[in-house]
Amino acid sequence: MIQSVDAIRFSEYGGPDVLSLRKIDLPAPGKGEIQIRHAAIGLNFIDIYHRKGVFGPKLPLPATPGVEGVGEVVAVGADVSGFAVGDRVAYVGGPPGGYATHRNLPAHRALHVPAGLASGTVAASIFKGLTAEYLTHRCVSLGPDDTVLLHAAAGGVGSLASQWLKALGVTVIGTVSTEEKASSALAHGCDHVIIYSRDDFREEVMRITGGKGVRAVYDSVGADTFARSLDCLQPRGTLVSFGESSGPVEPVAISTLGSKGSLYLTRPSIAHYTAVRTEYEAAAQRLFSAMQEKRLMAVEPLTYPLAEAAQAHADLEARKTAGSVILLP
Ligand SMILES: NC(=O)c1ccc[n+]([C@@H]2O[C@H](COP(=O)([O-])OP(=O)(O)OC[C@H]3O[C@@H](n4cnc5c(N)ncnc54)[C@H](OP(=O)(O)O)[C@@H]3O)[C@@H](O)[C@H]2O)c1
Repeated sequence: MIQSVDAIRFSEYGGPDVLSLRKIDLPAPGKGEIQIRHAAIGLNFIDIYHRKGVFGPKLPLPATPGVEGVGEVVAVGADVSGFAVGDRVAYVGGPPGGYATHRNLPAHRALHVPAGLASGTVAASIFKGLTAEYLTHRCVSLGPDDTVLLHAAAGGVGSLASQWLKALGVTVIGTVSTEEKASSALAHGCDHVIIYSRDDFREEVMRITGGKGVRAVYDSVGADTFARSLDCLQPRGTLVSFGESSGPVEPVAISTLGSKGSLYLTRPSIAHYTAVRTEYEAAAQRLFSAMQEKRLMAVEPLTYPLAEAAQAHADLEARKTAGSVILLP
């Protein structure tokens, strides 16, 4: 049965004002799909890339952004096992389409949400938390002898990654743009905070590490920081370039990695770290356990009504937000 639901749509790529709330027709879930009524929808920087039509394949238009949500299963398609009407599920990835009251989702992207975790908290934490999980546990192997540099440490991913790094015993140097965000980064596990809008983070890293440099840099800022991030690494250190909030990174000559100290460079994506169902489930289990046992404190999310998605995008893009942002249908 086709039903009419509210969804945020855009018919051209561009600024936040291309987003508007419209009615769309949602068919019954197809083979291998479940239908979800959202309780909360996560907002992520990738939604901005999708809206702008930059980074990776462009979404066919008209499109609905959104790759993260939590809700109740309201219908189940053919050939689905393990999910039933009434189950509370969360998801990361799958085709975009999350900014809507209801959506269909391939069942293999759904995860059961343990009781005791609020839907808003999970929507604020699952995409960013699973990103923090693979960055800190599976992308680079780190321990108590290591110091790392984490850019945008007060952001959604940053505030979760800093807590997890701290729990691993790693010394964390975070960068942020304002004093207010510096307080937030310190409260979430950073040992040192650099205000990179004011101070040269390369000089500060060398000062803090006594000229040694760091074992890894987590760089989601991209264009504005990438080249200087390379200079913060100790020999055989790793640059994890996992985002481009300030714009795409210029190509780098492989010989540069040699001359700067036999460096490693990776450009990871959560898609490749959660593509295998068993790895996806294990990562979610690690995240949910850490949240339930309060080893990982979800940052109180900033909430916007679904209809105000354009404003939420404008605020995230203007660096006005700290922690996670969610939309409430
Ligand atoms: N590769 C992956 O698997 C993966 C998965 C999830 C997210 N990501 C990436 O991780 C990053 C963080 O995502 P998020 O959703 O948690 O966002 P976020 O960190 O909450 O927001 C982005 C932050 O980047 C900083 N920034 C620096 N220059 C900026 C600029 N020119 N414009 C906007 N922001 C700028 C700002 O912090 P300051 O004000 O402190 O500078 C801003 O708050 C994004 O780049 C995203 O694409 C990657």
